[in-house]
Amino acid sequence: MHLFDLTGKVAVVTGGTRGIGLMMARGLLQAGASVYVSSRKPDAGEAAAAELSQFGRVASIPADVSTEAGCLRLAEEVGRSEERLHVLVNNAGATWGEPFATFPASAWDKVLDLNLKAPFFLTRAFLPLLEAAGTDDDPARVVNVGSIDGLHAPSLPTYSYSASKAGVHHLTRVLAKELGPKRITVNAVAPGPFESKMMAATLAAHGDEIAASSPLGRIGRPDDMAGVAVYLASRAGAYVTGAVIPVDGGRATTL
Ligand SMILES: NC(=O)c1ccc[n+]([C@@H]2O[C@H](COP(=O)([O-])OP(=O)(O)OC[C@H]3O[C@@H](n4cnc5c(N)ncnc54)[C@H](OP(=O)(O)O)[C@@H]3O)[C@@H](O)[C@H]2O)c1
Repeated sequence: MHLFDLTGKVAVVTGGTRGIGLMMARGLLQAGASVYVSSRKPDAGEAAAAELSQFGRVASIPADVSTEAGCLRLAEEVGRSEERLHVLVNNAGATWGEPFATFPASAWDKVLDLNLKAPFFLTRAFLPLLEAAGTDDDPARVVNVGSIDGLHAPSLPTYSYSASKAGVHHLTRVLAKELGPKRITVNAVAPGPFESKMMAATLAAHGDEIAASSPLGRIGRPDDMAGVAVYLASRAGAYVTGAVIPVDGGRATTL
């Protein structure tokens, strides 16, 4: 079997209906996996599934994963159709920018609930299905989406966001230790700038400048995210766990 082939594997991508999640879902489908995309809005889920269906077997399951109950419901729904889950991509995320002086408590709750607590509760909710999929040779995979803002101090006033992403990176290492014996790897991807709704305003205002100041001279492309998702989900990534992989054109890695 090809090193990067995902035929027969089942994946769930939270926030898979647009942006980085959609890029990763497309990559997983093209490599042969069946993919469930999930986000809050049923319409966005249906539209994404329709767009992605040209690449393989895909379905949408709407869920709000900012509460543990929402995480449990998503796992239960997937469990109705699947006995195993080979790949869980914890990608859904939100940000909040506001000056230090007025940064509200609600911006901590909203961002930490979704960016940091959801990867923990989802991984635990899916544990039986992940354990059923993992083998000594080919462990099940959890891929958390962090950020380069969790690696360095960001330029924007996004206090809870950067703290949540640093937390995701460390949670990745902690869960890698916990779940390795169960034959589940846990890794994080730390993206640099990619086109998405979350990044639209920043890239509209500063995109050229951001690209020009990056060692590789551009922002991220969909294939850059598809590639790292396929690597971490496939036999090629079977011995990698507890890693935080920056995919940033050198922005944070060369600082
Ligand atoms: N774009 C970048 O440059 C960049 C850089 C570094 C890290 N990241 C990270 O990459 C991930 C994806 O970001 P993005 O840029 O692609 O953002 P985005 O375009 O805003 O997409 C966010 C996705 O998450 C879903 N979502 C939001 N709240 C949710 C909730 N409570 N429950 C379930 N799904 C929810 C959204 O769909 P609904 O609205 O339908 O729920 C959407 O599918 C995030 O973790 C982000 O921090 C992005």
